[in-house]
Amino acid sequence: MSNKIIVRKVTNSIEPMVVMEGAGVRLRRSIATRQLDYVDPFLLFDHFGSHDPADYMPGFPMHPHRGIETVTYMQTGSVRHTDSLGNSGVISTGDVQWMTSGSGIMHEEMPQQGIDGHMEGFQLWVNLPAKLKMSPPRYQEILANTIPEVIPDPGIRVKVIAGQYADQHGPVTEIAADPTYLDVALEPGTKFNIQIASDHTVFAYLYFGDGDFGGTFASATRLLIFGEGDSIQVESGKIGAKFLLISGKPLGEPIARYGPFVMNTQQEIMEAIKELRDGTFIKSK
Ligand code: FE2
Repeated sequence: MSNKIIVRKVTNSIEPMVVMEGAGVRLRRSIATRQLDYVDPFLLFDHFGSHDPADYMPGFPMHPHRGIETVTYMQTGSVRHTDSLGNSGVISTGDVQWMTSGSGIMHEEMPQQGIDGHMEGFQLWVNLPAKLKMSPPRYQEILANTIPEVIPDPGIRVKVIAGQYADQHGPVTEIAADPTYLDVALEPGTKFNIQIASDHTVFAYLYFGDGDFGGTFASATRLLIFGEGDSIQVESGKIGAKFLLISGKPLGEPIARYGPFVMNTQQEIMEAIKELRDGTFIKSK
């Protein structure tokens, strides 16, 4: 047996698609498109970012979710949220909102205009295994000052949002897919290596700069899906690189999706739509 580390290579490099969502929010989508429907266990990846409030102010008025978890990471700006569990509040620059819809939640996500109009952030949808799809909904907010930042070597900064890096654990825990969610910033010409469990799906979202990702050169903005192996190696280019590095354990279950509902069968989707129509969608408050 060999103990040789296998560096994961990029198997798919996706250019995000511009889409309109909610009440007219312009965003860049990399997962949940015609090009790429699902990267088990990740169902959707959106990047909202603009200096023009007209691109985001319409927001996401009250809408349902069932069968998923969503992780929203605000980089710049603020979003006010309200939900059927009775939560309301504002998440701002650097904060993370983690929502487990389980059997059903109704919520509203309304951007607040920033001082210079700039708003930027990411939303990831993580699938729930069949046994947890109808579990009670949950909602948590993680403030920026509770997210550890690690500087393992000069030129490298890593914010640990979920999972573990170096000896730090991220504050987002108990997500069924056991994700790692890191925000990595590299100075120009810096090498970064990380071990990631070989049974996890891994992707990077390069949102600034450029660099070599396991032998593939990429420039922002790109979603890079990695193939088999146990380590990720990155070397940033001339202006440095900033990227999210996200991994999770695949579920290997059938999916049936319809907008904000993601279940295992079409029958379950029909039930969700029917319950929404007849007012029995929300199971717990
Ligand atoms: Fe939502």
